[in-house]
Amino acid sequence: MLLWGCLFIVLDVLLWPESRAASLPLQMDSVIQILAQLEQEESILQLTAPGLLLMSGSANNFSQHLLFSGVPSPMQLKLDFLSPELQALATSLIPHGVDSGQEHGVVLAPDGSTVAVEPLLAGLEVGLRGRRSIPISLEFIASPSEVIAAHKKEGPTLAPQVSMTLQDDGNISPDPTILPTVQTNSSTDVDNLLAVTLTKALGVAFLPGPGTHTPKGLGPDGCWDQISAPKTFSLLYSEAPSALTVAFLHGALDGALLGDYLSRHPKPSPPLSHLLAQYYGAGVEGDPQFRSNFRRDNGASLISQESLVQQIEGSLLLLQELEPSNSQLKNLSQDQLAEVATQAAKEFTEAFLECPAILPRCRWQAAPYRGTPKMLKLPLGFLYVHHTYEPNQPCTSFSQCAADMRSMQRFHQDIRGWDDIGYSFVAGADGYVYEGRGWRWVGAHTLGHNSLGFGVSIIGNYTATLPAARVLSTVRDSLPRCALRAGYLRPDYTVQGHRQLVRTECPGDALYRQISTWPHFGPPPQPAGPGTLSAVVFPRRRRKA
Ligand SMILES: *[C@@H]1O[C@H](CO)[C@@H](O)[C@H](O)[C@H]1NC(C)=O
Ligand SMILES: *[C@@H]1O[C@H](CO)[C@@H](O)[C@H](O)[C@H]1NC(C)=O
Ligand SMILES: *[C@@H]1O[C@H](CO)[C@@H](O)[C@H](O)[C@H]1NC(C)=O
Ligand SMILES: *[C@@H]1O[C@H](CO)[C@@H](O)[C@H](O)[C@H]1NC(C)=O
Repeated sequence: MLLWGCLFIVLDVLLWPESRAASLPLQMDSVIQILAQLEQEESILQLTAPGLLLMSGSANNFSQHLLFSGVPSPMQLKLDFLSPELQALATSLIPHGVDSGQEHGVVLAPDGSTVAVEPLLAGLEVGLRGRRSIPISLEFIASPSEVIAAHKKEGPTLAPQVSMTLQDDGNISPDPTILPTVQTNSSTDVDNLLAVTLTKALGVAFLPGPGTHTPKGLGPDGCWDQISAPKTFSLLYSEAPSALTVAFLHGALDGALLGDYLSRHPKPSPPLSHLLAQYYGAGVEGDPQFRSNFRRDNGASLISQESLVQQIEGSLLLLQELEPSNSQLKNLSQDQLAEVATQAAKEFTEAFLECPAILPRCRWQAAPYRGTPKMLKLPLGFLYVHHTYEPNQPCTSFSQCAADMRSMQRFHQDIRGWDDIGYSFVAGADGYVYEGRGWRWVGAHTLGHNSLGFGVSIIGNYTATLPAARVLSTVRDSLPRCALRAGYLRPDYTVQGHRQLVRTECPGDALYRQISTWPHFGPPPQPAGPGTLSAVVFPRRRRKA
């Protein structure tokens, strides 16, 4: 019955479209509570015809086709058993949207990331009901009711591509005896799991907008009003808002990864509340690699850029057929769609999937900058590597890393008398990079060189031991590669250890030996003419890094 959980929330929104303020905090734990309650309810299966009518009237043709085809009627909607709080929350969590600088339908996860609920639930729904390949020519696709009717009357033979059977309890499960009989070119088949989570949204975001030739592309991350009981989420910038925000991409990746897991997991499926608690906690089935912190790496293993191009193109073709009145798609040829798909897949892979996940300052509850920050002249030519020394242990959870960031900022501001935490970025061992001064503002990390390079520190004491391999590859490879792509670093950038420029042990003997093997590692600068290294960053009376 739990497979109706996701669907049910969607139906609820359609029944009560006016948005009700959620009284529970917008946290992943609240979503897990809703799912846990739905999973206990036997009555969810009795959905009524009005529900189905509402669904066919309001849900868009695409999710209708990919998510709800095969939903038996009549259905009856009942939400009474959810507490009023959970009901209100359920309605405020779907649909996902971006509107005057705020993002709706997102929650804060325990790992510090923000996650859109709608694509997450869509992926779970497909994972439970059956992942399948959908030929994009609609001629071959029977309508949902025809498929169900055919199953009831004559067995499976009339259902060429929907590999499911209707069980006595009204449940639908994948049926291994029914294999697709219609062979189409496999490169144009659409994976329903990727389509409902990621690839349709990616394709649409890269379509030329109405009356413009600029696609919206990838959108920003944002900030919660508060971390302990989050209620509103504001985007970091809101000009030309794209719905493809960082939070949406998190939800889409999580939905795809968990849907993939469920589709391969032997039945019965684990309760979704347990699965999500593990995924957003210590890891699914105790596997610390399979959790939200590492969604980008896991996403890159799940889908290559090449198949992403095909899936985005297929999703757009399918959308074109399912929503013939969609004005953005109307006059685009298949070649043009292929071009859009290529661009979307490239941008998503290179600017998101293969880049480190950076948690913005607001997420670790940074204190405000003191004074007036000075802007960097980008792109810069150096990346200076540090260790924090104190704290001397790597942090492995969001709460610990965020606390470390706050304590370093307090130390730098209150004891050292600087304007802000000194480093540009700090790498935790929890899979995240924490924004310090960021890409645009001069830091206080490498005396005399603060305007010339970014200071990147790794939390821990690396005098005798090395950071985790994943942390090293972030600082060596993905962070500079993505900074270069975004125009923050010059292509010929140089990596240096703090000790090459300032009398210090930093970044520790072990880490220093390690970075001296890196491809962009460079010697200390030659003595330069007067002025070159004299970039004064802070007022004279202050101590310098
Ligand atoms: C399938 O796709 C490939 C590459 O896009 C193409 O070369 C081939 O002709 C197609 N086959 C059919 C049967 O359409
Ligand atoms: C959805 O499908 C129906 C029937 O095929 C079609 O008439 C309608 O225009 C589609 N909706 C959109 C938004 O394209
Ligand atoms: C699409 O093309 C048709 C004719 O080919 C034209 O009448 C229509 O205005 C075009 N629509 C858009 C949105 O460009
Ligand atoms: C850092 O590590 C070295 C080598 O293990 C040790 O001697 C030193 O006391 C450590 N420093 C701190 C602050 O933990």
